[in-house]
This record gives sequence, structure tokens and C-alpha cells, in this order.
Amino acid sequence: MADEVSRETPAKVVGVRRLKEAMAKPASTRIFTVANQKGGVGKTTTTVNIAAAMAMGGLRVLVIDLDPQGNASTALGVEHRDSAGVYEVLMGNTSMSEVVKKVAGFPALDCVSSNTSLANAEINLVSMVARELQLKAAIDEVSANYDYIFIDCPPSLGLLTINAFAASKELLIPIQTEYYALEGLSQLLETYSVVKKRLNPNLNLSTIVLTMFDSRTRLSNDVAANVRSHFPNELIDIPIPRAVRVSEAPSYNQTVMTYDPLSPGAIAYMQVAREIAERGKPKDVVFDSNVVSINYKGGIA
Ligand SMILES: Nc1ncnc2c1ncn2[C@@H]1O[C@H](COP(=O)(O)OP(=O)(O)O)[C@@H](O)[C@H]1O
Ligand SMILES: [Mg+2]
Repeated sequence: MADEVSRETPAKVVGVRRLKEAMAKPASTRIFTVANQKGGVGKTTTTVNIAAAMAMGGLRVLVIDLDPQGNASTALGVEHRDSAGVYEVLMGNTSMSEVVKKVAGFPALDCVSSNTSLANAEINLVSMVARELQLKAAIDEVSANYDYIFIDCPPSLGLLTINAFAASKELLIPIQTEYYALEGLSQLLETYSVVKKRLNPNLNLSTIVLTMFDSRTRLSNDVAANVRSHFPNELIDIPIPRAVRVSEAPSYNQTVMTYDPLSPGAIAYMQVAREIAERGKPKDVVFDSNVVSINYKGGIA
């Protein structure tokens, strides 16, 4: 702790940050919903820090703040209270490209902010035609400009979260390593499978991130083991530690990636971001001699 406190706290993000080693680009835009209907599990923290880490790794990233509380916008230092954002887009009053804002201090990190009007969206969307697909239509307009798009959801499974599911290719679930961690997960998975069946067959639960991990406690380790056994392929096996600097960063309108890039939380988020990028890089085409020879024999038979 002592050295954490002694490190200088930057009041403002200055300059552009880039890592020496770039992160892998995906073959096409990867669009993630970050969801868990429990509040306070680390959705917003995970969204903004992975997005910031990827932007530092040379990727073009967009964060869409779909929570009326606007925590993601705050953490990225984007003015949101008095300006048009995702609500106005969902209502069809403006286009996505009109409300995209640049995030200071990053080469290619953008944000579509939320504002308090978004709290009315759940009600106002109900009467709209194709109400579940408003966000998808809006994202389609800008998605080619990005390698990664992350949608930070509110803590509910209402129409906003459904819009995110319908607009995404992948689902990222942050799981807090605490006692009730897996409670409610079945409801989330149920919603996911209904959306997949009825609205968006391309949606894939690809990624699970463990948050607020405390390696000293048996509970954290038990939860991690449990998640690992249920989701061996989806789990990113680099837990985000519970760390003071991670929770302090938003009050300086920053992600921990700029607030204290050498702190344990920042390092963990950097590793998780790199792992997600690695998993998403285009696979090399492998020449499979068995398949070719089977086809060949089939051809002359
Ligand atoms: N790794 C962490 N270490 C310490 N505090 C954290 C960590 N991750 C999140 N927090 C804090 O926990 C609270 C909830 O996190 P948040 O990302 O806002 O959750 P959600 O978006 O799911 O509601 C916030 O105050 C945040 O700063
Ligand atoms: Mg949040």
C-alpha cells in the first residue's frame, strides 16, 4: 500500500498513450455486451479499463454507455449530463456518428455517453416498432470504424440490455468473486438463450472475467474454481484483484490505465485485454492434408 500512495496522482490525462507491443486486430469488428443484472459487480470498471487498455494497444475502440447513471462516461472523462447521447439515438432523434465523442489522452478511444433521459428509454421504447433493434441499427452505421465496441449495460435485464444483446456478437459477463456471485446467473443465461433463439442467433457468450478477486480468501478461490469448472473456455483465467487504485480512478475522471498504469489492477486489466484480443485474432489457414486427401479420393471414386 505504501508505494501505492507515494506514487504521484495525475490530476488530468495528458498526451497520448500507446504500448510498445500492439494488440492483435480482429478480422472484423467484435461487438461485446458487458452485462450482469447484479449491480456493483464490475461491469463498468471492466468495460472502461479493457477498452482503454485496447486503445493503448493500438486498437480502435468504442464504448457505448447504456446505463442511465453514466458511470462509464464519467470514468472516461466524457461530458455527458447536458449533451445528446445514446438516448437520443435510440429515440431516432439523431444518428450515432453525431454523438460519438473522443476520449482525451487516447489515440483511438471513443465514447457514446448516456444522460439521465436514458432512464426513460425503457418506457419510451415499448411503443416503438422493432424496439429491440434500435441500438443494432444505430451501431451498424459506425461499426466499420472500430476493432472493438463495448456496450456497458445497466443492472437489469430490461429493454436496454435486450437492445445490447441484439446488437452484439459476443457477451462478456463480469463475475464478482463473492458469496452470491453465481446467484442470478441462471436468469442472465436464460435471457441470453431466449435472445439467441428469437432475436440474434449470432450472439455468443464468449468471455467471463472475474472481478474484485482476493487471492488470500478461500471464498474468492472457491468462486473462481466453480466458474472455471462451468465455463472452462469462456473464463479469462486472469482475475482482476480488488485494488484501491481501480476504485479511485473514476473520481479523477480516469481509467486506472492512466491513473496508475503500474498498479496491480491496471496490470491485470491490461493482461485481460491482451488475452481477449489474442483470442479474437484471425486464425491462420492451416493446410490440412487429411481433409484434402479425403476430398481427392472422393473426387475420383
Ligand atoms: N477490482 C476492483 N477493486 C476495487 N474496487 C473495484 C474493483 N472493480 C470495481 N470496483 C468498485 O466497485 C464498485 C462497483 O463497480 P462497477 O464497475 O461500477 O460495477 P457495475 O457497473 O457492475 O455496477 C465501484 O465503486 C468500483 O469502483
Ligand atoms: Mg455500471
